[in-house]
Amino acid sequence: MAFTRIDWVAGHCQLLRSISAEFKDTLPFQGLTIGTGIHLEAKTVALLLTLRDGGARLVSTGNLNTTQPEALQALAAEGVTVIGGPTKDSNLHGRYLDEVIAARPDLILDNGGDLFAKYLYAPYDGLRGGTEETTSGRMRLEPLRDRLRLPILVINDSPIKQFAENEHAVGQSALESYIRLTNRVTNGEKVTVFGYGACGRGVAASFRGACARVTVVDVNPVTRLRAHLDGFGTPPRDEAVADADVIITVTGARDVLTAADLPLLRDGVIVANAGHFPLEIDVEAMVRAPAVVGVREYADDVMTLELNDGRRIHVISRGHMFNLAGPRPMGNSIESMDLGFALQARCLEAVANGSVDASSCVVPVPARIDAAIATSYLDRKYQGHPDLG
Ligand SMILES: NC(=O)c1ccc[n+]([C@@H]2O[C@H](COP(=O)([O-])OP(=O)(O)OC[C@H]3O[C@@H](n4cnc5c(N)ncnc54)[C@H](O)[C@@H]3O)[C@@H](O)[C@H]2O)c1
Repeated sequence: MAFTRIDWVAGHCQLLRSISAEFKDTLPFQGLTIGTGIHLEAKTVALLLTLRDGGARLVSTGNLNTTQPEALQALAAEGVTVIGGPTKDSNLHGRYLDEVIAARPDLILDNGGDLFAKYLYAPYDGLRGGTEETTSGRMRLEPLRDRLRLPILVINDSPIKQFAENEHAVGQSALESYIRLTNRVTNGEKVTVFGYGACGRGVAASFRGACARVTVVDVNPVTRLRAHLDGFGTPPRDEAVADADVIITVTGARDVLTAADLPLLRDGVIVANAGHFPLEIDVEAMVRAPAVVGVREYADDVMTLELNDGRRIHVISRGHMFNLAGPRPMGNSIESMDLGFALQARCLEAVANGSVDASSCVVPVPARIDAAIATSYLDRKYQGHPDLG
């Protein structure tokens, strides 16, 4: 019998496996519908099936550009209602999100704030609350607290998510994806990382570990000081842009690199975004810029802009999050996502059973849940828990 990557991943999501076994007895979501809008790939299959094992009916769509067909097939085969498919078209993606909200879920599992924002356009009775996975979603939902008034736990703001996924895993997968998509050397290359938050620290450290010469640009001077003391170059922004062989944005902000930067960029530079939304690099304006006289689209989601002065600018995945793009995208490590998704499962359980209320609107994961997940992970490591894969 042939086993798939989804089987491999499921076998190594040990926290989710043990929660799933428990949920089959406790059925915390019995009779409830959970609407989800999160990357549909192998690790999220493991999360969604854990929620299903807890009695939930699931209505699920993905995020822009990251939906993997094999994940859709695996979920549909398990009885999950899956909406839509892979797309870079934000209007089409918006319609998929509308369909999830039209199912009037009791709980929402959101990634980027898309579903909660859609809910505010078409509110209905019965939504108990839910979770938000990422930094970008928290930034979007915080100003909406007065209108949401529901328990919404932000997985991103758990210290475990911060160090296990954002810092360590995003750095590793960004490096893995850069090499996988471009097949280019990192040694000796000048890499500029925009954003030195949890993700940016990991990206900068991973590229330094791959013998690149890394500089950091951050709008916050305190954060720049941290990067400096961590040993990274912190030149003025435009100097860093003009000097870079590779530029990676991971800020959560919009228009970090725009068409106005085209005169600065050196010939052959590779630009890529690891932030959640494809808004950090204004690729569409770059493509339309008068100085761009040609565009080459290569296989494997890489594009070259040819400028009228002969320079070439290479763009990975049109500015979409590149560590879940290109051929055989793997995203962040299984263990980092198992930790984050165990937080997801426990937080949704807490919202479902009412142990958090509307005073917990867009707040971090309760400390007791962090402690329980950390203990469970370490117990497995130190008690020689068998590899279940
Ligand atoms: N690719 C992935 O797998 C993955 C995983 C987790 C989070 N994310 C996303 O990565 C992004 C960053 O997340 P984070 O947790 O590191 O956020 P963070 O808030 O910890 O850090 C962001 C940093 O960017 C800086 N910044 C903001 N605007 C800037 C600008 N214009 N130029 C330079 N610096 C700027 C901020 O000062 C801050 O230091 C978010 O969009 C998040 O959703 C991606």
